[in-house]
Amino acid sequence: MTALVDTPTHVSPFARPRTLRADRRRWQDGPTPASLADLVTLTREVADEVHAGRHAVEVDPVHRWSQRLHADEHLDVWLISWARDQAAELHDHGGSLGALTVVRGGLTEWRWTAGGEDDDACRAEELASRGPGLRRRVLEPGRSVAFGLGHVHDVSNRAVETAVSVHAYSPPLSAMSYYGVEGGVLRRTRSELVAPGQPPE
Ligand SMILES: [Fe+2]
Repeated sequence: MTALVDTPTHVSPFARPRTLRADRRRWQDGPTPASLADLVTLTREVADEVHAGRHAVEVDPVHRWSQRLHADEHLDVWLISWARDQAAELHDHGGSLGALTVVRGGLTEWRWTAGGEDDDACRAEELASRGPGLRRRVLEPGRSVAFGLGHVHDVSNRAVETAVSVHAYSPPLSAMSYYGVEGGVLRRTRSELVAPGQPPE
């Protein structure tokens, strides 16, 4: 685990009881006191720490590199680097909510929308190759996205420049399912348990 060295002017985002609010009686987004907005805010704050040099980032040209920055009963936070063409296959996050913020580089996300509207331009031939149920969005540096329950996506770095992102999950990831798309239909291909400390997708 990367050590955080706090200075008098810096308070770690993990130091505050973000996910233990006594006044949060209704967990609107899922089985956790953290909301999607909480997770987005947290990943943005940790991304700022990465920019400030508080967390070392490594790059593995063979396997995606990741470092768990924090873990407690309600959430885990990961720093991930993506060398060119490194990718996570189509998956969900089990019973966890999630969020990510791109620190640098860019990530491409394809998410299952069952034919919903896209929010980014997408080359027609690329869309045809993936099918109408998947929609692409390009996540530039500083962009944050949240993953509610049932969010199915794949993520990749298609650029030469290494991408770096901060991910938070609440509750901590404990299971994930993987998917394929056949004839425009999303089909689960397998499910796997995620051990504590096991890098996320
Ligand atoms: Fe994911």
